[in-house]
Amino acid sequence: MAALTIEKIHPDFGARITGVDLREPLTDEVVEEIRAAIDDYSFLCFPDQPFDDEHQLAVTAALGEPEPSHVKLGQEGVIEYFGTIGNVMADGSVLDNSHKRTRFQTGNNMWHSDSSFRDVPTYVSIMCAYEVPAEGGKTEFASGRATYDRLSEAEQAKVDPLIAEHDYVFSRSKVGPDAVTPSHAASLPPVQQKLVRRNPRTGAKNIFVGSHAKSIVGWSFEDSRALLDDLLDRATQDEHVYSHAWQTGDLVIWDNRCLVHRGSGYDADKYRRYMRQTRVKGVGSSMDE
Ligand code: SIN
Repeated sequence: MAALTIEKIHPDFGARITGVDLREPLTDEVVEEIRAAIDDYSFLCFPDQPFDDEHQLAVTAALGEPEPSHVKLGQEGVIEYFGTIGNVMADGSVLDNSHKRTRFQTGNNMWHSDSSFRDVPTYVSIMCAYEVPAEGGKTEFASGRATYDRLSEAEQAKVDPLIAEHDYVFSRSKVGPDAVTPSHAASLPPVQQKLVRRNPRTGAKNIFVGSHAKSIVGWSFEDSRALLDDLLDRATQDEHVYSHAWQTGDLVIWDNRCLVHRGSGYDADKYRRYMRQTRVKGVGSSMDE
């Protein structure tokens, strides 16, 4: 019997899900329903889930292999499954707009798919909201699946076989010359990913783009940029975007295989924002799909 109550929130994708307490140990049946909902809706918001790291890691592990943060790994050689999104630190201190970490996080305000620059990109990201600013701090999402479906048949035939190179240093250097440390850069050489991915369960195709997608293999940089910028622009037209206004207690799961997302910014001099993020690793490179 279905455990989840699903309410659609945007014509292209997204669902609000009630009827389950994610702090309880998840049965195989519920995990299967969540996986199917990820495949069908791409973005799931579970409201009123007062969480902590221990329970978040349990939900993460129930959905697959937790993905170590590339930042901690690349900068310090340390395995850490959590990232803090926002300006409130574990010791309670609050970082302002000028802090290097706050500036670094503005890189998330470019449309992207998490870890598309890793050989094995992220399957889903999971974010729990603990403190949300009174103004700003929304996260915006758009669907590469709906984008693919809106292409003409000729456009689909053109993009279907293409391969993109994704490069973290390319995208994040836009934040500033000191945004990527030498060891972090060395840990993330550019990788190839299919430009069109296919959901393994449903067969639905999607465009796989975002700020980390630098070029198309075999194409000039100019032609690559024209195509990649056009696809992202078409994906993220206002009418196709769902903007999530976080509420304390939200647990959100999004499918990085087919969604792009970005932060919308907030005033860290004025407000506190504290969210915890984990990720589930994909099953392999998109090149093997
Ligand atoms: C993210 O890109 O993972 C977070 C975006 C945000 O700050 O809302």
